[in-house]
Amino acid sequence: MLDTPFTFELRGPGFVPSRHDNHIQRTLASMRGQYCDPAAYEALLAKGDALLYEVYELNRPHKAGEVLHGISIVHPGRVGEEYFMTKGHFHTVLETAEIYYCLSGQGAMVMETPDGEWAVEALSPGRVLYVPPRWAHRSVNTGAEDLITFFAYPGHAGHDYGTIEQQGFRKLIVERDGRPEIVDNPRWKKITN
Ligand code: 6PG
Ligand code: NI
Repeated sequence: MLDTPFTFELRGPGFVPSRHDNHIQRTLASMRGQYCDPAAYEALLAKGDALLYEVYELNRPHKAGEVLHGISIVHPGRVGEEYFMTKGHFHTVLETAEIYYCLSGQGAMVMETPDGEWAVEALSPGRVLYVPPRWAHRSVNTGAEDLITFFAYPGHAGHDYGTIEQQGFRKLIVERDGRPEIVDNPRWKKITN
């Protein structure tokens, strides 16, 4: 791991970093239980374990003071009326923010706090999103092309997927009459620790 300044290239149309250490690939099977229409999920899975999204990360020490960064690519598609999306997570260290810069595609970031606030921000090329501390976040591809974002967040943040896997997000983004629509998640439930 470099301790001297370094650069890498992010060039369109794919924006795969010219230098990366981890390449995470999330498939449909890894999102079991996350989509609101289990029948549509099973029917799509029966056709094959589609690749939903990929993450290219550059390794840095997972400690305060470092900034973890990389690229997130959510491929286009739907499970029933619900768009392809990331798992979504709180940061284990809740008081840690994140910045997203949209490089390509059309989408949205679905966010919520443990206290019940929620927000959805549209993503399009050139748009920067600041996700404050305490806000869980999930990228959703509402377009016909890859949704590609550059992200950066504190080295010690960590990922809490469990809370979202159990609770879901309060809001979902579905396609109605050919357009994205924000709807309540009928299966959202607050887990009590
Ligand atoms: C992070 C970032 C980002 C995120 C990807 C994939 O905290 O690492 O939010 O890199 O991990 O967009 O989304 P999931 O982590 O929710 O699968
Ligand atoms: Ni994050």
